[in-house]
Amino acid sequence: MINVTKPFLPPREEFDQYINGIWSREWLTNNGPLVNELELKLKEYLDVPHLFFVSNGTIALQIAIKALGVKGEIITTPFSYVATTSCICWEGYTPVFVDICPRTLNINPELIEAAITPETTAILATHVYGNPCDVEAIDSIASKYNLKVIYDGAHAFGTKYNGRSVFKYGDISTISFHATKLFHTIEGGAVITQDASVAKEIAHIRNFGHDGPEKFYSIGINGKNSEFHAAMGLCNLKYVNQILQRRKELSERYDLMLKPLRITKPFIESKEEFNHAYYAIIFESEKALLKAIDTLNGVYTYPRRYFYPSLDKLNYVGSEGEMKVAGSVSSRVLCLPLYQDLSFEEIDMISRALLRAQNY
Ligand SMILES: Cc1ncc(COP(=O)(O)O)c(C=O)c1O
Repeated sequence: MINVTKPFLPPREEFDQYINGIWSREWLTNNGPLVNELELKLKEYLDVPHLFFVSNGTIALQIAIKALGVKGEIITTPFSYVATTSCICWEGYTPVFVDICPRTLNINPELIEAAITPETTAILATHVYGNPCDVEAIDSIASKYNLKVIYDGAHAFGTKYNGRSVFKYGDISTISFHATKLFHTIEGGAVITQDASVAKEIAHIRNFGHDGPEKFYSIGINGKNSEFHAAMGLCNLKYVNQILQRRKELSERYDLMLKPLRITKPFIESKEEFNHAYYAIIFESEKALLKAIDTLNGVYTYPRRYFYPSLDKLNYVGSEGEMKVAGSVSSRVLCLPLYQDLSFEEIDMISRALLRAQNY
């Protein structure tokens, strides 16, 4: 059986060494030494000044909203994972959807200004599949209208824009380290900022708002992560360059094998260094996509309709205006299996099945 993804697992002995250390220190959570070490190493790897390891990428988004004090209407993309929208609704604010660019599948900056109202306080955009948004255009609209910018970089580990870490843009970026991500800590995520005063807010909010054992600085939540999760991160970080390289090779194999297939793919701008977090293909019609899924399932291969449905269709959001591009793309997009030990032979088999589905 070939699933859309399979978590990377480091050599067991390397993980065990960290676990032995946890046993001898008897320090399991609450900003322990492994959490600190992982944060330092991630800051260095991602080239960012402030990074907070948290329990998942969803709580990272909730903390970002609270730390920036944004409220009212938040402009966002309908083409993302549900957490990008639900985090806004969870806080009691209103997601205002702006359609995506048909080439990159990221929020279309040309449509943002028309959606701004006196209630708008922020833009929350996703670097879809690790492909960076037009961060320059978004950041310049935000400064013109005095809006905050949060980038949901759940997929963007290792991505660069104009040679710089993509996490250097916006007021806050978030990331997910879920087991399905190319770098993972089993469950986990991070909140990243360039700004020391925002970092202070995040640090307090992540830890219930504590300012010392008996004093409270602000409202907070339990967003901390544990020594065990940090141990997995420290093990995996050693392999992340190999993982990035392998995903590139596998994606190039798909490119080669799928040349005759009538599909399109998200466009990666030349100034972007892509991390190959996903291999997404867009069919001509939903019918062609369903036939492809059926054929792949017949050879025990399980790709994923990701993202589907378009988020403006969620039953708890009131959405104005039709998200034509996001609606159309989400009905036709499919993420193919991509993980470290997927073989070229398996990619060839998947590709042949896709061609069969197209031709018969
Ligand atoms: C775009 C996006 N945002 C947020 C999340 C939430 O991350 P987590 O699963 O770590 O809570 C995900 C998870 O897949 C995601 O894909």
